Amino acid sequence: MLLSTYALAQPFPVLDGKTHNGVATCSSSMCHGSVKEYKNSNILHNEYITWDRKDIHSLAYNKLLSKEFKAITDKLGLKSPEKEPVCLNCHSSNVPKKLQGKRFLMSDGVGCETCHGGSEKWLATHTDKDATHESNIRDGLYPLDDLEKRARLCLSCHYGD
Ligand code: HEC
Ligand code: HEC
Ligand code: HEC
Repeated sequence: MLLSTYALAQPFPVLDGKTHNGVATCSSSMCHGSVKEYKNSNILHNEYITWDRKDIHSLAYNKLLSKEFKAITDKLGLKSPEKEPVCLNCHSSNVPKKLQGKRFLMSDGVGCETCHGGSEKWLATHTDKDATHESNIRDGLYPLDDLEKRARLCLSCHYGD
């Protein structure tokens, strides 16, 4: 299947048409910002700390502000990298303005929702007792556990779609 057709069937997170609420809505210490991994929990709860301290995706936007990046856009006759949609498409989470929630920051770079999908419909409910992975996916969580869909998402930036 052509990737463009595929993207319509399973939109990538930045194209999912959902409000993206921003990394700040995931990072509280009770949620995904615990310093230590939880034991006996179905998730680690320290995902924000991992992303912030060990994952270069959290720096992808900040790096756009460096001289090397500007030299590239200057040569291409484009806007400054941090304003240039072509660069923001992969070095940040270039969701349309009207879908950027109050705490959304372009400077978060490749953030939680850039991979996991806009949280508009699942932010409030994914912690409910009766929420399941399937119900979260129905509400717009990107199915990263499906290896083909995961690979397609990574490749959409790392190879280009
Ligand atoms: C570059 C893409 C990417 C980014 C950015 C990202 N994740 Fe993930 N995340 C993944 C993948 C891939 C998995 C594994 C999914 C699976 O096996 O089902 C995962 C797994 C998880 C899990 C379940 C496993 C666990 O216990 O850790 C949680 C919760 C999670 N991520 C939260 C977050 C949060 C919160 C952020 C932002 C601070 C974030 N992720 C940023 C790709 C990403
Ligand atoms: C299709 C997605 C995509 C687009 C569009 C894109 N980049 Fe990148 N860029 C990447 C990825 C992925 C990497 C990391 C490659 C790696 O390390 O394997 C990267 C890395 C870079 C690096 C090296 C960063 C480093 O840490 O050494 C520079 C510089 C760069 N990009 C500049 C730009 C500029 C400027 C633009 C806009 C004109 C742009 N990129 C547009 C995906 C993209
Ligand atoms: C929205 C675009 C985007 C998506 C989606 C994405 N990445 Fe990236 N990734 C980047 C960019 C941009 C960089 C380079 C950051 C920099 O150097 O500033 C990067 C860097 C990396 C690096 C570090 C490469 C190096 O040379 O050190 C790895 C590893 C990586 N990504 C893996 C993944 C995996 C695995 C997935 C899917 C689960 C994924 N990425 C999804 C944009 C993306």
